[in-house]
Amino acid sequence: MRFDIITVLPGLLESPFAHSILQRAQNKGLSEIYVHNLRDYSSNKHKSVDDYPYGGGSGMVMQIEPFAACIEKLKAERDYDEIIFMTPDGETFNQEIANGLSLKKNVIILCGHYKGIDQRIRDVYVTREISIGDYVLSGGELPAAIIVDAVVRLLPGVLSDETSALSDSFQGDLLDAPVYSRPADWRGHKVPEVLLSGNQAKIEQWRYEQSLERTQKRRPDLLE
Ligand code: ADE
Repeated sequence: MRFDIITVLPGLLESPFAHSILQRAQNKGLSEIYVHNLRDYSSNKHKSVDDYPYGGGSGMVMQIEPFAACIEKLKAERDYDEIIFMTPDGETFNQEIANGLSLKKNVIILCGHYKGIDQRIRDVYVTREISIGDYVLSGGELPAAIIVDAVVRLLPGVLSDETSALSDSFQGDLLDAPVYSRPADWRGHKVPEVLLSGNQAKIEQWRYEQSLERTQKRRPDLLE
């Protein structure tokens, strides 16, 4: 799966994809992630990409031409399944959206800034608008990194069987049960006996009960 992220702050996205699972996915050829500097597509000598809003008001608006130039260059090279705009007024991101995106081949993500982007970019190019939650960040870069992370770990072959994404909280109806590792006794805080029992059926039953209890306590809405 290929992601092309268009941003005025490419430096913000240098590191998130260069570690751990996301790095491995790219090394294995399971995902490609490209970050494009929107300023490279500005046609003026100051490399500016924003201007004052028509009708007045505070803040600058990101202009259509640089986005159009970058998107059209990419679209001339391959077909894209989605062009996503990260915005707090989009649909709220969740596991179901991540699952759906993981079935796509090529996806462009646009990161907004300032007061917003010219509405015509959204009307003409964008196929989907996604928010990562009801709060406003200073730009779409961190939200874009979240989308890429949530999607790439779902791609076949990225996670090993033991850590399969299918067993994640939110993939089923229940949150995950608590987990423990050595030592079995840390300053009197003991690992639940059942986990040391070797009885796999009992362990599975305990994990299920713990999941259910945790979900009832923390996210009763998931059980409705
Ligand atoms: N840009 C700024 N805030 C955002 C949010 N909550 N989700 C997606 N993009 C954003």
